[in-house]
Amino acid sequence: MRSLVVGTGSYAPEKVLTNADLEKLVETNDEWIRTRTGIRERHIAAPEQASSDMALIAAQRALDQAGLAAADVEAIIVGTVTPDYPFPSTAAVVQGKLGNKKAFAFDVSAACAGSLHALSVADRYVASGAIKNALVIGVDTLSRITNWKDRNSCILFGDGAGAMVLAPTDAPNRGLSTIRLHADGSLVPMLFQPGGGSRDPITVEMAAAGRQYLFMKGQEVYKVAVRSLEEVCREVMTAEGLTAEGITYVIAHQANKRILDATLSRLGIPESKCWMNLEKYGNTSAASVPMTLDEAHRAGWFKPGDVILMMAIGGGMAWGGAILRW
Ligand code: UT7
Repeated sequence: MRSLVVGTGSYAPEKVLTNADLEKLVETNDEWIRTRTGIRERHIAAPEQASSDMALIAAQRALDQAGLAAADVEAIIVGTVTPDYPFPSTAAVVQGKLGNKKAFAFDVSAACAGSLHALSVADRYVASGAIKNALVIGVDTLSRITNWKDRNSCILFGDGAGAMVLAPTDAPNRGLSTIRLHADGSLVPMLFQPGGGSRDPITVEMAAAGRQYLFMKGQEVYKVAVRSLEEVCREVMTAEGLTAEGITYVIAHQANKRILDATLSRLGIPESKCWMNLEKYGNTSAASVPMTLDEAHRAGWFKPGDVILMMAIGGGMAWGGAILRW
């Protein structure tokens, strides 16, 4: 038995922040941002919107598509690094808002690779027959931990949520067939939120120094990203005896167009097979993969049996790849 994606949904907040808007905040320009990243604009959560609010909308859209009542969901697993609260989990908050009493609920922390990690956990429960369905959500409100004075990072990120509903299948050549995850904790200082945790708790001094904001060594992340994504994609393709020609579509974390172009070129996969939306949303962290999957699905990209290569990488560093047979 395997787990099959039977519903997808996504949500991006209303407010759009364009590259021209960023020119007013930091020393940058539209041309630099477009050519170095591929991003034109990103969506930013309203002050009253937290991660669970965006997650709830994406989840409801995915449940509607799957024809599954909120009350019947058996597990809710959320990938996020910007939860509503340090605790409890955003998954528990979403369960409450859905009015569900049945599901167990917890969050998974793997930054931009969070939804792929959440998917791998949910897959184990569903494919083993332990539960009949699972709601997997990737959501981040990175705007809340972005330093809007740091032009190296603030141009990249946007807010959003994506959701997937999993159900078991016995159909041959369908469902999640391989997922591989990796981490390299020696690279923590490359991309992290230094303050606000137990190492550097919230104090006036911490906040004044700006350590509550995401910190990133962009160029180093870039190099690790291209190398690691290529490696993990080769690993999942080899596990299934797939060549580049055997991949119908690619759904990738939308980090930077140059990272994706370089990875696809190394793999010999044409760009036309990879759904791109980072020009509209920027890097939405854990939301990126399920938002992208939902857009491509609603645009009519997938038919049963299509072989979808998924990939994501984020802070940790933590990364993964998967083969999803639609
Ligand atoms: O999910 C994982 C999350 N993180 C990522 O995916 C980030 C991966 N890294 C990247 O996407 C890229 O490294 C960046 C987009 C962050 C930066 O692009 P880059 O081509 O690596 O630029 P750079 O850092 O090498 O900077 C080149 C120049 C520097 O000026 P000098 O030293 O050559 O005079 C920077 O100061 O561009 C300058 N620069 C900017 N100029 C205009 C850096 N940021 C900006 C900016 N606007 N926003």
